[in-house]
This record gives sequence, C-alpha cells and structure tokens, in this order.
Amino acid sequence: MLDDVSIGNIRKRRTFAIISHPDAGKTTLTEKLLLFGGAIQLAGSVKGRKAARHATSDWMALEQQRGISVTSSVMQFPYDGRMVNLLDTPGHEDFSEDTYRTLTAVDSALMVIDCAKGVEARTIKLMEVCRLRDTPIMTFINKLDREGRDPMDLLDEIEKVLRISCAPITWPIGMGRELQGIYHLLEDRIYIYQEAAKGRAGTYATIDGLESDAARDFLGLRAAAMRDEVELVRGAMPEFCAQEYLAGRQTPVFFGSAISNFGVTELLSMFVRQAPGPQARETTVRSVEPLEDKLTGFVFKIQANMDPGHRDRIAFMRICSGRYVKGMRLFHVRLRKEMRVSDALTFLASDRQHTDEAYAGDILGLHNHGTINIGDTFTEGESLMFTGIPNFAPELFRRTVLRDPLRMKALQKGLDQLCEEGATQVFRPLRNNDVILGAVGQLQFDVVAFRLQDEYSVQAAFDNVNVFTARWVYLKDTGGAKDAKGQKKLEEFRNKAYENLALDHSGALVYLAPTRVNLQLTIERWPELDFRETREQL
Ligand code: G4P
Repeated sequence: MLDDVSIGNIRKRRTFAIISHPDAGKTTLTEKLLLFGGAIQLAGSVKGRKAARHATSDWMALEQQRGISVTSSVMQFPYDGRMVNLLDTPGHEDFSEDTYRTLTAVDSALMVIDCAKGVEARTIKLMEVCRLRDTPIMTFINKLDREGRDPMDLLDEIEKVLRISCAPITWPIGMGRELQGIYHLLEDRIYIYQEAAKGRAGTYATIDGLESDAARDFLGLRAAAMRDEVELVRGAMPEFCAQEYLAGRQTPVFFGSAISNFGVTELLSMFVRQAPGPQARETTVRSVEPLEDKLTGFVFKIQANMDPGHRDRIAFMRICSGRYVKGMRLFHVRLRKEMRVSDALTFLASDRQHTDEAYAGDILGLHNHGTINIGDTFTEGESLMFTGIPNFAPELFRRTVLRDPLRMKALQKGLDQLCEEGATQVFRPLRNNDVILGAVGQLQFDVVAFRLQDEYSVQAAFDNVNVFTARWVYLKDTGGAKDAKGQKKLEEFRNKAYENLALDHSGALVYLAPTRVNLQLTIERWPELDFRETREQL
C-alpha cells in the first residue's frame, strides 16, 4: 500500500501539454504559466534560455535558422497546492510524430487559439489525436489585445470544426484597441485590462457584479450591450459541466492576452482545480491505476544531447503508477532485465536536476545508453506493456547515399540512434543493402543530415526512391503466429513480394509499396494479411 503522503502527492499531479498552431502564442503562454507558478522570475527567460542553448549547440542552431522549435521538453512547477507537469510539444508540422507521442503521456491538454485566426490546420490535427483518448481540453483564445474575430463566431467554429461543445468561462469586453477587460461568467466579476500591466499575476483591478453601479460606470456606453451579450451567451452556450469536460466532450473557454499577462491566472486557477490528475492506463495485460503501490511507466520520447555539455541521451518516462525513489530497481520489460536507477532526472522549472523521488503523473528522465526504445515499459517486476504509443507510417522516403563509404559503420550507428529517438524511421530492404529513410515531413531529412554530420561526422545525402508508402505486415488472426497455415501464407508472401519488402528498426516486416494502385492490389491479393499504417510498440 502507498502511504498517505504518496497518495496525496499523486492526486496533486496535473500533467498536460499545450496544443496550438504555430504562432498562436504557445511559447508566450508557457512562459506566463512558469512565471505565475514561480518557476521563473522574469518574463523572457524561456526565450532567453532557448537563445542560450542556441549559442552553445550547432544542432540548436538549425532550430534557430528555421525559426522553429524542434525539441520538446518537460517543465514542472508547483501552483496553488498542485504539482504541474507541462510537456512541451514542438510546433512544426514535420515533427507531429513527436507531438503525437507526447500526447499519449498527458492527462489533459490546453488548446491555444489566435483570436484573429480561429481554428487552424494544426489545431485540427492535434485535436484528432486528443480525441483518440478522449483527453480533456481547456481552451485559451489569445491575443485579445489585437483586433480579432467575433467571439461568438470563434466558439461556433470550435464547435463545428473540432466537434466539441464550448462552455465560456470568461468573455471579452471589447477587443484590440477597444479591449476593456474580461467578464468572468462563473464569478460574475469584471477583470479590467491595463495595457501596461507587465507585473505578476493578479495585479489588475476587478469589479464585482455586471449589474453593479461600478460596472455600469466602467462600461459606460457599452454597459447595456454588454449585458445583452452576456445574456445571449448564457442562453446560447452550455454551462460548464465537470463530467462533460472530463469526458472530453466539452471545453471550458477563456479569453485573454498572454503577452500582457491578461486572463492567464483565471485559466490557470480553473485548470489546477478541474483538470484531471493521473489517469488509469491500458496495458497488454490489464488496466493500471495510478494509486497502485508498484511503479510502472512507459517511455514516450528519447532526446539526444539536450545539454551539449553532457552529450547524453535521455529517455522520458511517464510514471503511470506508484512512486520512484532514488536507487530503486526497475524491470525493463522488453529486455527482461533489471536495472538500478540512481540518477534519474526530473525537470523542475525546466532545469534538469537529480531527484530522490517522483510520483505517478511525473516524468522521469532516464540516462539511455542505447538499451531504451520509445514505447518501452518499466515496472517493478510485472510483465505488462503499455499500449497505444504509435509509430506512424511515414509519407516521404529517401535512399541514403554515403559520401565516404568508409563511414558506413558510423552511419548505421547514427541512424539507429536517430531512429530510436523517433527522429526518422529506417527501413532495410530484403533485396539489397540500401538504407531507406522514412519521414512524416521534409524537414526531418534536413535534421537527420545535419545531425549525422554534427554528431557522427557522417556526410550523407538523400536520393529519391520509388516508394509511395509503407505498411507493417501482420497475419490477420492474432493467434496466427502459432498457426502453421498462417505462417505458410506469410512465408509465401515473403517470397512473392520479396522485391518490395524491408525490415524496420525493430526487425518488423514492412511492405514498401511503389504506388497506391500496387498497394491496393497487394491488399486484395493477400486477404489473410493485415497491412497496417501504424505499428503500435508492444
Ligand atoms: P508559438 O509558440 O505558438 O509559435 O507562439 P509564440 O508564443 O512564439 O508567439 C507568436 C507571436 O505572437 C510572437 O510574436 C508573440 O510575441 C506574439 N504573441 C503571443 N501572445 C500574444 C498576445 O497575447 N498578444 C499579441 N499581440 N501578441 C502575442 P513574434 O513577433 O513572432 O515574436 P517576438 O518577437 O515577440 O518574440
């Protein structure tokens, strides 16, 4: 049994990610959350820290050149009696795989929307991923200090496009140059906007009661219209309902301006009170509850050389149940091997530090010397594996061309490690010694080429290759592995389709289809086989 302190600590955890289209204000909001959580002292530190890293690492220089954030990190900070774990996700579309996996490690999400742009392409994609697990979502409509779209229109768009019902918690009083403040529908209170409010949270003035004399004076000519609008909002939109939110069917909506610290505290205080703590998770054997006394967890991300001074690789493990204490023995389920962990990292205030204990909901950084893969499960001895950490079928393929053939071994090593991190996928055709890389976006190839050169001193180029898509090949009947007839079919397929078959990083069989038509014909010809777009890492 876990002791009461540990149970309390687990219940206090709030593990979430911010999802948004690039430029909506995710970085700015993250910084404000850290600022109000007391994790950083000065606005600008997050970007400043980014810049410091850029200066010391060429790899980060690529991020800077492209003006994107490629890597993602974990930040932990206490807020209002809770312990918040914020998992950052890279904003660029080409790195969506990484983002998708990060979303498997959170219990809820915060969606940021630009009030002038509304729902954008990437928001839609990310929302689809959240929907797979019914992840509860809170919404922040940002940049209220600029001219934006009609708030009713924005909510209408969220409801229609993202298919989630909206329960406004705050409502804007004007926008852009006309912005006067926000009205809190649950508190019946006006928060007054002050343009120059660069101070800490909660320094701006409030007025209680929309019907009060003070509110009437403050709103002036707008008072009557505002009261009508609020009445309309209350009539037309649903009230906040905790169950609906937790089921992922309703999103509470907040308006504000991250850059002016405005409306953020209201969001954060509702978030820590309403967002779910650590949730139960499925495994190959059973469902795991967070308050179980034994530790379990899975690796959702591996990142190399976060700190160029260290040149190590860190595996990020989400703790799903129990408690970690320094020096404990963990069971690496895939390798069936025990290992002692004495130097795990936590990510308090985004600085890495060694930790003595951590709880379900937290993220642990494990030093990885090549034995940990994305999707790996750790337990205290039980043989179970967490499911649902996807490997996506890449959409772009290139053949690796090595400039110096003597560097073949270094290339293999580099690609294996980059593959293990999920930076690219490697396919080795059965018929020759080619190395084919797969990616979800073009930028991934640039990153791989850059890192091969930078970290492994390998100069590689990429050629076009005649591959349209990849499918992981399985026998349809899951009991089929032992079924002799099924095995024979698979063997027959291996012989017939030999020219188009390859093995992935883990040795799984993959069909590399040259065209869409070819894929369709192959699927029709082999009804006993399953051609899957994702390989769940089991
Ligand atoms: P992202 O991580 O989602 O990509 O967005 P980020 O926070 O970097 O914000 C994108 C741009 O929007 C930044 O401007 C940022 O300053 C601005 N921004 C964020 N929140 C607000 C807001 O509430 N109001 C207004 N008016 N702007 C906001 P930039 O010019 O691209 O960068 P910078 O030079 O300000 O750093």
